[in-house]
Amino acid sequence: MLPSTYRKLVAARFSPRFREAAAVVEVPLEAPGPGDILVRNRCAGVNATDVNISAGRYTPGAQPPIDLGAEAVGEVAAVGDGVTAFQVGDAVLTNSLGGGYREYYTVRAGRAVRVPAASPEILALAISGVTASIGLSVTGEMQAGETVLVTAAAGGTGQFAVQLAKAAGCHVIGTCGGPDKAELLRTLGCDRVVNYHDEDLDAVLGAEYPRGVDLVYESVGRRMFDVALEHLAVRGRLVIIGYITEYLDTPEAVTAPRIYTKLLSKSASVRSMFLPHFFRQAPEHLTRLLEMVRAGALQVAIDPAEFRGLEAVADAVEHLHSGRSRGKVVVWL
Ligand SMILES: NC(=O)c1ccc[n+]([C@@H]2O[C@H](COP(=O)([O-])OP(=O)(O)OC[C@H]3O[C@@H](n4cnc5c(N)ncnc54)[C@H](OP(=O)(O)O)[C@@H]3O)[C@@H](O)[C@H]2O)c1
Repeated sequence: MLPSTYRKLVAARFSPRFREAAAVVEVPLEAPGPGDILVRNRCAGVNATDVNISAGRYTPGAQPPIDLGAEAVGEVAAVGDGVTAFQVGDAVLTNSLGGGYREYYTVRAGRAVRVPAASPEILALAISGVTASIGLSVTGEMQAGETVLVTAAAGGTGQFAVQLAKAAGCHVIGTCGGPDKAELLRTLGCDRVVNYHDEDLDAVLGAEYPRGVDLVYESVGRRMFDVALEHLAVRGRLVIIGYITEYLDTPEAVTAPRIYTKLLSKSASVRSMFLPHFFRQAPEHLTRLLEMVRAGALQVAIDPAEFRGLEAVADAVEHLHSGRSRGKVVVWL
């Protein structure tokens, strides 16, 4: 028996301060229409970019309120007319803007993926894993034998970049901020772990990688970006995945020689990869990641901090932005 109402988290006003933007609202629960399924969300993924979404940066021109959250796992609670691919009780994964931080979600059946279990490990693949997979192989054109630098390597998406680069036969350097994260990176097979609290990345790369780095999976920004750019090898590629250091502030204005002075003499390039632009490629990457997890070829680290309920989402977002999280941060709904 389904309830008549459910709760979800909206940005009642736009602000990168997630807690200031977010409000829990209760709304009627409608039966799914033809071709739709109704999912009881159990666990939602927390992403660095939640603060960009709550700031309205993903929806230019839109007025609040907007729904918050993105990926979630749960069980099918009801199916609409004409839906044959799902049955009530099936575990499913969804990934759409606004579909995460809510108790129930109605979605086109074709947008949901049946998964073996509604677990946080599988949830982590939807955005964090698929971004790493596409960012490295498609945008980064990763080749076996290359040296790959992953920043925020013990984070939600970084952990996958490390493992996928290793699985592709690369030498992997991973940065992190703390001994527990350094330990995680070693267990994931990272060849050279740089805990930037103890070591200077610029010095490490200069001393140990004089040829430079072939591919960078960069999601931190500011000085981390500058150092990575400086150490690109001939024909090196730096893939911008994010710049978390700038999300809560006005982007830093810098005055420096233009970027071409760093690139042309090395035939190097800076590229970027934003998952919503890879909507069509995402399913095949997700399928491969699910298969790797099933085969025991991909580990998934879930942050040990436990967050329960919509009221805890702001705590979880702040935890991720504190720099203390390790692995994928999730919220149980
Ligand atoms: N392009 C896309 O489509 C896409 C998709 C998913 C994620 N991303 C991007 O990937 C990056 C990581 O996202 P995520 O959700 O997986 O987060 P996350 O890596 O799980 O967590 C953030 C990590 O960033 C590091 N960090 C460095 N400087 C920081 C600072 N000033 N404040 C807070 N954290 C800092 C911290 O790790 P250390 O201190 O150990 O470095 C922290 O644990 C973000 O830039 C995000 O926007 C992009």
